[in-house]
Amino acid sequence: MPDQTAATAYVTTPIYYVNDRPHIGHAYTTTLCDVWARFMRLSGRDVFFLTGTDEHGVKVEKSARDRGTTPQALADENAAEFRRVLGLFGLSNDDFIRTTEPRHERQVQRLLERLEAAGAVHLGEFEGWYDEGQEEYHTETRAKELDYRSPVSGRPLVRAKESNYYFRLSAFQERLERHFDENPEFVRPAARRNEVLGRLREGLQDVPITRTNFSWGIPMPGAEGHVVYVWIDALFNYATALGLGEEDPTSSERAKFWPADFHVIGKEILWFHAVIWPALLMALELPLPKCIYAHAFWIAEGQKMSKSLGNFVDLEAIGRYHDRYGLDAWRWFMATRGPLGASDADFREDQFADAYATDLVNTVGNGASRVTAMAERYFEGSVPRPEDPHRIVGDRDWNASIAEALREAESAAGRFAIDRMAEAGLSLFRSLDGFIHRTEPFRLAKDPDRREDLARILHQSLEVLFAASALLWPLMPDSMDRLREALGCAKVTESGPLADQVRMDAARDFDGVRKIALFPRIETA
Ligand code: MSP
Repeated sequence: MPDQTAATAYVTTPIYYVNDRPHIGHAYTTTLCDVWARFMRLSGRDVFFLTGTDEHGVKVEKSARDRGTTPQALADENAAEFRRVLGLFGLSNDDFIRTTEPRHERQVQRLLERLEAAGAVHLGEFEGWYDEGQEEYHTETRAKELDYRSPVSGRPLVRAKESNYYFRLSAFQERLERHFDENPEFVRPAARRNEVLGRLREGLQDVPITRTNFSWGIPMPGAEGHVVYVWIDALFNYATALGLGEEDPTSSERAKFWPADFHVIGKEILWFHAVIWPALLMALELPLPKCIYAHAFWIAEGQKMSKSLGNFVDLEAIGRYHDRYGLDAWRWFMATRGPLGASDADFREDQFADAYATDLVNTVGNGASRVTAMAERYFEGSVPRPEDPHRIVGDRDWNASIAEALREAESAAGRFAIDRMAEAGLSLFRSLDGFIHRTEPFRLAKDPDRREDLARILHQSLEVLFAASALLWPLMPDSMDRLREALGCAKVTESGPLADQVRMDAARDFDGVRKIALFPRIETA
């Protein structure tokens, strides 16, 4: 009997502030998660992919006031916009959580009660350096390092004082350090881990978890005038979406997805995710996420993208790329040329055009069209399985190459190395090009005595396209489904587990193969 309970996988994006317009940053993180989620689903995992919006806080309250509307109306409008926009990117999220939803609010309150019951909360007076844009306090040491300016907006930090409820973060210092030591993969990439660990070792102070100077937030249970600090409210989304703050969390069908395999975020919010979040979970006695993956930033022409500089690659700009190159090309560029590692990546049109031409036109598109064209021309689209289909032709053991590509992709997915996952599929197309070059099927076609060899070469080439289309499907679902159609085969999602889709299938006859042009050449100025 096969195991009926598939292993689960849980991946999350940050929840996005509703007082911002969607831009490349949001699209980027969400697309990375989407590629991962799709790959895991193909691998047979039971996947939960979460994204959503962060809707409370003083900034939303202020923007609403400025626009003469209510915070809820503003949040509704902008959350709808985020949802609409994420839809344009072909994202396959399983839920979209909003922090103003009753399901979230009631669970946050319950989780805070549990924190209090666990003795992890106390009332105290607080004074510190406050970053108004980020809604974040900094210690004196940290503020000095930052030259008393916001590391995000560059605006001066302000001195602020409040009487608030605190989370006893300091009590978790040792346990956190131990967790980092025992789980070297807890934060990726490694450079980011070292950064956080360095700061962690400087010592932890308790952090305020309520605010009294505004009201657009979740009321702190049993504390008149206090609302839950927006960051605490927001972090809990990862748990409330699965029902972990419900009275009986075990009754939630989604509880099985806990904890997350990857909380994927940008590097600017790593402290909250790698230190405060795990400490909250420790206090609640919940298992910790397996990995916080913090990517770097897209920048524009060597400069940080910011609202004040007005240089964000915004929706209009993204739309122009979609129109010109197609959504899949956009996804490909995000996944393979973005700031996935520790360094920022410059967004430049010439590099986009270059990646498009090199990877998609010349490698993927060219391989697909050559093989399908020959199948059509020499066999009228029907290439039956040859006698000994796996006989090694032209020094190429495709069985081994395909198995190796699958292993590569799987191991890359385990490290959230989305670019390496893409490379695993792309490498098959590259090898295919070399194979055709060496075996010269177009020459064999002229010799009636070599008909069997020709069939074997084409059959193997079609098998390679079949396998590669499965490996690249998470990145470019639409194009790879079209390729499958041109091969006369079922769509990737309809043809079973990934391992079967990439393994060369000795029983497969190819029938109804049609020449396909996947990525048109695009002239650049
Ligand atoms: N609401 C908080 C997150 C709470 S999560 C519990 C927040 N929201 S945000 O709208 O500002 O989104 C920040 C995220 O957007 C970053 O972490 C990153 O995922 C993405 N990006 C924003 N600008 C970016 C770039 N320039 N480049 C790449 N991604 C960046 O912070």
